[in-house]
Amino acid sequence: MKTSSELSLTPAFDLKGFFHERRALIEGALDSLLPGESVEPVSVHKAIRWSVFAGGKRFRPILMLATGEVFGAPDEVLRATACALEMIHTYSLIHDDLPSMDDDELRRGRPTCHIQFDEATAILAGDALQTLAFQTIAEDSSLSAEQRVLLVSELGRAAGTPRGMVAGQARDLEAESRAVTSGELEQIHRLKTAALIIAAARCGAIIADATDAELEAVGRYAAQLGLLFQITDDLLDVTATVETLGKTPGKDARAQKATYPSLYGIESAHQRADLVHQEACAVLEQIDKPTERLRAIADFILKRDA
Ligand code: IPE
Ligand code: IPE
Ligand code: MG
Ligand code: MG
Ligand code: MG
Repeated sequence: MKTSSELSLTPAFDLKGFFHERRALIEGALDSLLPGESVEPVSVHKAIRWSVFAGGKRFRPILMLATGEVFGAPDEVLRATACALEMIHTYSLIHDDLPSMDDDELRRGRPTCHIQFDEATAILAGDALQTLAFQTIAEDSSLSAEQRVLLVSELGRAAGTPRGMVAGQARDLEAESRAVTSGELEQIHRLKTAALIIAAARCGAIIADATDAELEAVGRYAAQLGLLFQITDDLLDVTATVETLGKTPGKDARAQKATYPSLYGIESAHQRADLVHQEACAVLEQIDKPTERLRAIADFILKRDA
């Protein structure tokens, strides 16, 4: 017999096992969706695979799988769209690292795409990943035609402009070396990072045929999760080592980027992260589904070290 205190404990969600399994699933699917290295133009395909298979966390596709699963969709119908999210994300990293943008030489523990290959190849690899993402969704025969249109629209809005990632990247660059208000900083982070994370969560829910109210709630959760993700990214740039990060720390200060630690200081940036994490978790209370895995993901992002 279990004691009453044992009964009241919720079993901890095995997030490590979940990430491990889902990452393998995504990487296998990416491998079959991306052109092989020997396919012409070889330089572009080598560059794509160099950047995609460099060992990222696969956070956006895993969030999408988690959300889809919460609303009852099987992984087989989520898989291709999850890969599309990782393609868009990896394209954004390749372009983010270019000399004309953040000018970085290390990414995912390897030389960045333009260092390993050249700038033109890196631009083209990013372009190709972006278009392949939309093509992958449009051609996914496990989804209805209506679902494909909804997903393409969702992802286009989130990745582009005026309310998506490209808009955020433009504002991030424009804000270098000048003072920003707290509102401007939050807006930059919501656009450059949270927009795609919101789309990841919503795409999972769209495929699971969630109700409009559920879609709206999961979008609010992911908006706070996405903001949290960029606050912790900013903090790691100050506090982490190159070994754990796989990218060069300290770059934000050198480029005079608008970040949470630069505007608030490290201590207050941590407090803001705590608050945004609490807000993300509070939204989950409003969703009448088993959301433990989404809660565990929020906890992981708050505490992450890479
Ligand atoms: C880095 O994203 C870029 C940001 C939006 C902060 P990730 O931290 O998810 O990078 P990978 O995919 O694990 O390399
Ligand atoms: C990048 O933000 C957001 C993107 C859309 C790629 P950062 O410039 O802070 O990302 P890292 O630190 O280079 O990964
Ligand atoms: Mg950047
Ligand atoms: Mg950068
Ligand atoms: Mg950063």
